[in-house]
Amino acid sequence: MEMGSVDDRNLVHSAARAFQRHFGQSSIVCGYAPGRVEILGNHTDYNGGAVLAAAIDRHVVVVGRRRTDRQVRVVSATLDGQASFDLDEITPTATAEWSHYVQGVFGVLQSAGCELGGAELAIDSSVPAGAGVSSSAALTSAIAMAIQQLYPFELSRLDLARLLRRAEHEYAGVHCGLLDPFTVLHGADGQFVLLDCADDSHVLAPLPQPAPAVVLCQSGVERRLGADAPYNLRRGECEQALAACNEHLGEAFPALCAVPLASFREIAERIQDTPRKRAAHVLEEHARVFAARDALRRAELGQLGTLLFESHVSSQTQFENSCPELDRLLRIGQQHAGLIGGRLCGAGWGGCMLFVVQADQVEDFCAHMQKVAHVAEGALHVCQVCDGASGRHLS
Ligand code: GLA
Repeated sequence: MEMGSVDDRNLVHSAARAFQRHFGQSSIVCGYAPGRVEILGNHTDYNGGAVLAAAIDRHVVVVGRRRTDRQVRVVSATLDGQASFDLDEITPTATAEWSHYVQGVFGVLQSAGCELGGAELAIDSSVPAGAGVSSSAALTSAIAMAIQQLYPFELSRLDLARLLRRAEHEYAGVHCGLLDPFTVLHGADGQFVLLDCADDSHVLAPLPQPAPAVVLCQSGVERRLGADAPYNLRRGECEQALAACNEHLGEAFPALCAVPLASFREIAERIQDTPRKRAAHVLEEHARVFAARDALRRAELGQLGTLLFESHVSSQTQFENSCPELDRLLRIGQQHAGLIGGRLCGAGWGGCMLFVVQADQVEDFCAHMQKVAHVAEGALHVCQVCDGASGRHLS
């Protein structure tokens, strides 16, 4: 199984070496951003709902230095290749290629009034790509942290998260919510982040001690991103569901999660099958996040686990964003006595399973998944809940 922190200590060095090799001089700043795991609150963020998430110790590192012109040159040790662009010729492109995310960060920061200049950057990463742990928000946040070291700007972390969400919408064509950049920027060691997208406020929820282990298990099925992905389709279905709720309730709720669950249930049978199922999932997820917060306060891990299992069943039956590979991993995980809870993590349709496991059982659990589910060692990630993104000068 993959343990994050050991590898991550070397990431800055390997990015700095790639920089030296490619640009022939030393990098002087570093941006560092974690991946994130969605604990509960599936597809609630863009519906104005609550989500429980955590930053995890898999990181994207970006090292760099200024250029004196308006050119940006980027090389990636892991993402294969290099890119360059002119700061005065950045145009939104809406295809999910890594270099567009980089352009997107420069683009949205400039549009927010930040005065930027040229840069040379090198990227390295230990965040598994396509696994549903937001390698894209880790990338955009690490780029932003590196830029901030080179060209200091004043933006709150919330404003920065909103800008990075915009970068993803406009430059990658993925109409994601705030969850990913927000968690990557607000993560805290040993604590879950409870984000309420009704007003984008958040609180931290400490993990009960001894903290359970967070294990990610890659399904091997890559999620499709980009403009035509099912993700954007679901957003449309949720909008239809909101319109139907407002019509039948005679209200003007601004977002689906503002509809009280009890009111929705009163009129649910008058809504068409597909939007009704999507709304049921989203509203029940929203309620489960607060139930999970309460369970954590009472240190009732069993209750947290039940909520995770319920969430996965709802994904299977109501939101229809699971897939046979994820379901199979969950069934096999449930055979192990150390499992507290599990569900698909993030958008769905592939990516990874999240398992919350009793800390003293984690090695045995991973061995079970390897033996019974034939999961490759490198597809299992035992994660620590860690701090959010940061930047610094390299000495
Ligand atoms: C993806 C998106 C998030 C969120 C989740 C589903 O990870 O980027 O904004 O919508 O899916 O909860």
